[in-house]
Amino acid sequence: MTQRIQPSPPPVVAETLAEIRASIVDSRKVGKSIGFVPTMGALHAGHVSLIERARSECDTVVVSIFVNPTQFGPNEDFQRYPRPRELDLKICGDAGADIVFYPSVDVMYPVGYRTFVEVQGLSDILEGAIRPGHFRGVATVVTKLFMIVLADRAYFGQKDYQQQLLIRTMTTELNIPTAVVTCPTLRDPDGMAMSSRNAYLSPEERQRGLCLSKALNLVANQVEAGERDILKLQRQLCEQMAATTGISVDYGVIVDARTLSELTEAVPEMVALVAARVGTTRLIDNRVLRLA
Ligand code: PAJ
Repeated sequence: MTQRIQPSPPPVVAETLAEIRASIVDSRKVGKSIGFVPTMGALHAGHVSLIERARSECDTVVVSIFVNPTQFGPNEDFQRYPRPRELDLKICGDAGADIVFYPSVDVMYPVGYRTFVEVQGLSDILEGAIRPGHFRGVATVVTKLFMIVLADRAYFGQKDYQQQLLIRTMTTELNIPTAVVTCPTLRDPDGMAMSSRNAYLSPEERQRGLCLSKALNLVANQVEAGERDILKLQRQLCEQMAATTGISVDYGVIVDARTLSELTEAVPEMVALVAARVGTTRLIDNRVLRLA
C-alpha cells in the first residue's frame, strides 16, 4: 500500500510590519508558542535544520529572510549575495515554516534610520576586528527582528559561534524575553561546514576550503589525545591551514568558549575558531573543545 504524503501548505509571506504583526497576533492570542529562525536566505540544509528544530519545539514557526545591509562592509558581497526568493519560500514551506517575514530594506531601515545596538568587547574582536561594523549590524537587525516577532525561542547555528554568543549576551542584557537556542553545525559529507557563501567557490577553491575543518579536526584529536599546550595547538591550527596553497588565513585561535577571551592555559570549555579567504570568498568554522 502506498502512503500519501501531504505536501505542507505554503507559508504565509509577510512583507510589511503590519502584515507580520497581523499574521502572528492570532497565534499569540490563543497562547501558541512561537519559534523564530532569522536568516539572510540562500537557504541550505543548515538553515533547514534550524527550521525543523523550531518546528519540533514550537506551535508557530516564523522564518525571516533579509539580506541585512548594515552588517556588510563597503567592499563586501551585499550586492552579489544570492537572493533566490521562490526557491527559499519553497524550502521554508517544506521545512515546516508557517510564516516567512520577507521585508525590504525600506521596511527595516526607513530613510533617516539612526538607532544601533553594540555589544562592547564582543563586537570588535575576531570576526569583528576583520569586519568592522559587522556585529553592530547583526546586533541591530536581530534586536529589531526580535521586537517585531516577539518569539518564545529563536534558533541560531553554532556555525557562527561568535554571532550566537553575541546575540545571547545582547538578549540577556537587553532583557529580551526570547530564549536563544544554539543548534549544531551541519556539514557536507567531506566535513565542509555548509554556508550560503560556499556557492561562490569553484570546485578547486572548495577543495582548498576543506583545510578549515581539517585543521579543526587535527586540534580536536590532539586535545582528545591529551595535548594541553594551547599555544602549540594554536600554532598547529594556523600552520595546517596555511600549508594549503591559495588560502589566506585571517585567524586561527583557541579561546574560552564562554567569553572568547584569550587563553594561556587549557580551561574545561574552549573553542577553536578559524577564518580564511579562498580567492575572494571568506570562510569561517569552529569546533568546541571540551576537556574530558
Ligand atoms: P545566515 O548566514 O543566513 O544564517 C542564518 C542562521 O543559519 C544563523 O544562525 C547561522 O549560524 C545558521 N547556519 C548557517 N550555516 C549553518 C550550518 N552549516 N549549520 C547550522 N546552522 C547554520 O547569520 C545570519 O544569516 C545573519 O547574520 C542573521 C543572524 C540572519 C542576521 O542578519
